[in-house]
Amino acid sequence: MMPNKTEKRKKDHVEVVLKNNVQFEKTTGLEKIDFVHNALPECDFNKIDMSLKFLGKKISCPIVIEAMTGGYKHAQKINHDLAAVCEKYSIAFGLGSQRAMIEDESLVKTYTVRDTAPSIPLIGNIGAFQLKRYPVEKIENAVSKVEADALAVHLNPLQEAIQPEGDRDFTGILKSIERLCGRLSVPVIAKEVGSGISSSVALGLKDAGVSWIDVAGAGGTSWSKVEHLRNGMVDGFDDWGIPTSESILQCKGILPLIASGGIRSGIDCAKCIVLGAELAGGAYPFLKAWKEKRTGEEVERWITQMKVCAFLTGSKNYSDLRKAEVRIF
Ligand SMILES: Cc1cc2nc3c(=O)[nH]c(=O)nc-3n(C[C@H](O)[C@H](O)[C@H](O)COP(=O)(O)O)c2cc1C
Repeated sequence: MMPNKTEKRKKDHVEVVLKNNVQFEKTTGLEKIDFVHNALPECDFNKIDMSLKFLGKKISCPIVIEAMTGGYKHAQKINHDLAAVCEKYSIAFGLGSQRAMIEDESLVKTYTVRDTAPSIPLIGNIGAFQLKRYPVEKIENAVSKVEADALAVHLNPLQEAIQPEGDRDFTGILKSIERLCGRLSVPVIAKEVGSGISSSVALGLKDAGVSWIDVAGAGGTSWSKVEHLRNGMVDGFDDWGIPTSESILQCKGILPLIASGGIRSGIDCAKCIVLGAELAGGAYPFLKAWKEKRTGEEVERWITQMKVCAFLTGSKNYSDLRKAEVRIF
């Protein structure tokens, strides 16, 4: 059977991201942050405890493999492999947009990972625009089919603006988010896809009943670059967006935050935690690692780097690390 448009787009995204350099020129700003080194850490590296509770579940470290895929044949393997690694290391996992499985029931299996990842926090995903199209019951059904602990609603106006098939009428989306938050059985996470979230948007989302924000700021995967390689509409926006570090600073204190967008190591994660995020995540680095059959090693690298940051700042655990001293220059 021919794939439908949504399936084809999801497949193209993975292929374009893996075959080309579609990363921002602009940086996350995290390179301007340095930990104040503690030459006399009063702690035992082997006893450092980075565990925390997220969405009611205990995880070993504040790391999320961010939303990427689902909805076409090969995506099933990607989701299963990534989810299995998340389960092994006890970190959180985000599914890609569930639009394809809402449009075509036969694609549900490309998202269901609970058999391989029974205990971790699992985040479902839908585009904000789809909330205007589908009743809350349909969204609830999609969440329950994958047994997600939360639903990420992605805000992607840049991507929609430059896709020929993009949904460009964003009027009423905040209202739709509010309607969803009032009725959905799991918490809603509002998430960008690489252009960041400002304080005024975060305040609006909080009023609408959103529980978490995933800033997904600028400095990592550039959706303008991805869409260009697919269709070449409207140039000039490859570096558009609020750098991840700035987005964290703008949104902190408004809602609990996940930091993503250009996070490329456990050191970046640790910096985001000190800036005010509860967790940090990456998409592209784990897709690349999956392709190279080293996802486990990549996750292990991030976890170890976070622990070394904790050790070198004298932090015995996750809460100590949140208070570690940094210099911003
Ligand atoms: C191949 C690919 C597909 C993606 N698909 C989705 C998606 O379906 N839903 C979503 O919310 N974000 C999606 N994203 C965005 C990521 O979740 C993330 O916000 C963004 O890529 C920035 O993180 P990075 O710089 O670590 O890649 C996708 C990212 C990649 C690389």
